[in-house]
Amino acid sequence: MPDFNPLKHAAAGAALASVQDGMILGLGSGSTTHIFIDLLGAKVQDGELRDLLCVPTSEFSAQQARQWGISLTSLDEVDHLDLVVDGADEVDPQLNLIKGLGKALLREKLVEVHARRLVIIVDESKLVQRLGQRGPLPVEITPFGAQATLRWLRGVATRAELWRLEDGSPLVTDNGNYYVRCWFDGGIEQPEALAQRLNAWPGVVENGLFLHMATEVVVASPTGIQLLERGS
Ligand code: A5P
Repeated sequence: MPDFNPLKHAAAGAALASVQDGMILGLGSGSTTHIFIDLLGAKVQDGELRDLLCVPTSEFSAQQARQWGISLTSLDEVDHLDLVVDGADEVDPQLNLIKGLGKALLREKLVEVHARRLVIIVDESKLVQRLGQRGPLPVEITPFGAQATLRWLRGVATRAELWRLEDGSPLVTDNGNYYVRCWFDGGIEQPEALAQRLNAWPGVVENGLFLHMATEVVVASPTGIQLLERGS
């Protein structure tokens, strides 16, 4: 059982107000979204929220939602999503994001690109002036040629490491791929250019830069909840 984190709970609870009956709702991944799914599930069980159809972004979130009796569908079965609620690893002043340290970036990006609203739930520690200042950028790569792709990524980032489990084996994503974590001294100067460069390289499946996608960010701090909206 993870420790109770009041700020993550506050952000998740605030996002719940955006969910309405009948929505097609995307469920993100990670510890903050885990709390959101529990709060959502309790409302579904109590009959306070009805007729939701949810698209999960990881096997983990899908399993959690099923335990609450939340109705699930897949991205292929819907033509839009009214709302997606998800966490983030970093949020910059333009509401650009680094995501994926919860190990689900590809499915998150695939789902979230179809969202009419993408509401990000974070505690204030995730706010940065420049992406990459706080931690690594995750990049999903194919297992075939993984060492070759890693060598190339070492020429792009200050440091790049294959994400390994405690037993030394590579972390395998829900899609059967590997992850590389890339660190950038001083942060990422040009996120758009970097995202394009990464995704143009064979062997890179997707990167954790989520640019111009979030419509709102709910930030929880000890002084309360702040809502950041894109373009305001
Ligand atoms: C999942 O792959 C991620 O994008 C998470 O949303 C992100 O890592 C934030 O996770 P936490 O809510 O656990 O900090």
